[in-house]
Amino acid sequence: MRSKSARLDRFLSEAAGIRRRDVRRVLAQGRVALNGFPAFDIQQRVGEFCQVSLDGELLQNKQPRYLMLHKPKGVVSATIDHQHTTVVDLLDEKDRHDMHIAGRLDLHSSGLLLLTNDGRFSRYLTLPEQKIAKVYKVEVEHPITDAYAPAFAEGMYFGYEDITTLPAKLVILSETVAEVTLVEGRYHQIKRMFGRFRNPVLALHRLSIGNILLDESLMPGDYRPLTQAELSGFYQHLNALPGQ
Ligand code: URA
Repeated sequence: MRSKSARLDRFLSEAAGIRRRDVRRVLAQGRVALNGFPAFDIQQRVGEFCQVSLDGELLQNKQPRYLMLHKPKGVVSATIDHQHTTVVDLLDEKDRHDMHIAGRLDLHSSGLLLLTNDGRFSRYLTLPEQKIAKVYKVEVEHPITDAYAPAFAEGMYFGYEDITTLPAKLVILSETVAEVTLVEGRYHQIKRMFGRFRNPVLALHRLSIGNILLDESLMPGDYRPLTQAELSGFYQHLNALPGQ
């Protein structure tokens, strides 16, 4: 999902019907404010979440939203589905159809799922160079042997995509339960990695994404907004981007 930003002259012509050739005059008269400050430059970029007003009337005032949801098993990570309840159906929010998922979980997986209306946030979480760690608790059918951790760390070749998975960490918690840390999100990645050992995954639960831990007080199906502290890594990334 791309973030939407437009030059101020284009924004004003689309949002307020001001002809492009009249925009300079309207700006020179100090009639336009961007995030509360008078705007004079037609080249200024107007991001999706900039507040813009003309003669004191708001033209745009959309708030960025970031939610963590405890995804239950059997709910699909999609915005629309004709067969199953979707994670968006679980949100009791007016703007829920503006929200998209930042990193899906399979139908039968559970745990931490992030939803947002901010394309910059979901892109940040999925940028390969960010190598954001996602931690899962995995229960499998057969005992996990000492051969697993080195194979996960080395990476596995997936012929269908023609890629080798990035080093993943596996820590054995009990005979059939492990904690797995991935820094990418390939299709059914954990199931396919255990599949190499012919060991079916019985339960898969995401515990964290980067510094964001699933809030243990959230019951399956519950959600809450992310805190400023949970968003700090993203804010640092935004500040490092040109033009922010
Ligand atoms: N790997 C999987 O196989 N499924 C998930 O839902 C997440 C990671």
